[in-house]
Amino acid sequence: MVIKGLVIIAAVVLDQVQQRMHRRFALQMRGRLGGDMAKPFRGAVIGCGFFARNHLHAWREIPEAEIVAVCDIDAGRAEAMRADFAVPRAYADADMLFAQEQLDFVDIVTTMASHRSLVELAARHGVPTIVQKPLAPSWEDCLAIVRAAEAAGVPLMVHENFRFQAPMRAIRDVLASGRLGPLHFGRISFRSGHDVYANQPYLAREERFIILDLGIHLLDLARVFLGEVVNLDCVTQRVNAAIAGEDVATTLMRHASGATSLVDMSYATRQAREPFPETFVRLEGRDGTVELGDDYRLTSVTGGRVEETSVAPPLRPWAARPWHALQDSVYHAERHFIDALAAGRMPETSGADNLKTYALVLAAYESAARGAPVAPRGR
Ligand SMILES: NC(=O)c1ccc[n+]([C@@H]2O[C@H](COP(=O)([O-])OP(=O)(O)OC[C@H]3O[C@@H](n4cnc5c(N)ncnc54)[C@H](O)[C@@H]3O)[C@@H](O)[C@H]2O)c1
Repeated sequence: MVIKGLVIIAAVVLDQVQQRMHRRFALQMRGRLGGDMAKPFRGAVIGCGFFARNHLHAWREIPEAEIVAVCDIDAGRAEAMRADFAVPRAYADADMLFAQEQLDFVDIVTTMASHRSLVELAARHGVPTIVQKPLAPSWEDCLAIVRAAEAAGVPLMVHENFRFQAPMRAIRDVLASGRLGPLHFGRISFRSGHDVYANQPYLAREERFIILDLGIHLLDLARVFLGEVVNLDCVTQRVNAAIAGEDVATTLMRHASGATSLVDMSYATRQAREPFPETFVRLEGRDGTVELGDDYRLTSVTGGRVEETSVAPPLRPWAARPWHALQDSVYHAERHFIDALAAGRMPETSGADNLKTYALVLAAYESAARGAPVAPRGR
């Protein structure tokens, strides 16, 4: 009990220190910009592969941000991205990028192996950072990343975009209205036969695949909807013999609130309608239920009244089906980062917050290996 109290006090103090650091940063930014908030934040995108195109498209929709440089160790990719998006400069070396550019933020869209060295580099240069998930291949690297940003006093956001998807924001609105009462059950499900390996061939070689790549988003949603997790049981399967890791996982979680949730995922599901990348959600509360079903239909039942609405994401001008739900959420994640930077607020998917999601990923793998429930670790 005493230890729990001390942990809560430490978390509150840490949060206040970080909020102060962020406010200081916002003020410094305004100073650096000559007090003229009409000038956009100058940013760079590191990593010019498959997903970075979505980031660059979305940055173009945010007038308060301007991408002044792109960087990729593959010089050809960096130059192609520079040309496609009319970015002023391209670099093949991140050290050179930071040495030559005056940056207000950096957006890291490389795969996880390079995240630690790149975030540490950004922290040494005092540059606020948004970095793609998964944060890193190991817990030690994740901690080092978060600590590097904290020690340098620079804001760090993880690009955890599922909670920024239009349907997930609609569900959060229903929860915030209080109409469901306290929740006792949740199910978050993503089952697909989509060939993810075509665009992201590296995924077929990952020994830890679906939980670390996709499940991380679903486990994050479970935290957002139902709160922190006390412990979880997970079973993994590999159906596709041609890949290195697991492509099916089923998780049962017990939340601190007393609620339970099921989080299930598959890239080995053959079905009549391919729903990729739709995520299905069901949340049951004392006073009602909300369910996100096929084609982004949201049904809520409260007080005997049934309401059905479409919460389909908009098709942004540069987006393409079926990716548009994710593409729209990239815009909202970036928008959130810039708003937080400008206001000196902590982004909601800060490095510290994302450690709690990452801890669920590790607990799921450990539970699958041991065949027993596992409590997620803390910092
Ligand atoms: N949030 C989402 O919905 C979502 C969807 C897809 C991918 N992602 C994430 O985005 C990240 C990138 O994925 P991707 O599929 O675009 O990968 P990718 O392999 O297509 O692209 C990564 C790029 O980073 C470059 N790179 C690697 N190390 C570098 C370094 N040190 N400096 C500069 N450039 C470097 C590579 O040359 C490559 O061009 C991954 O972490 C992935 O998990 C997220």
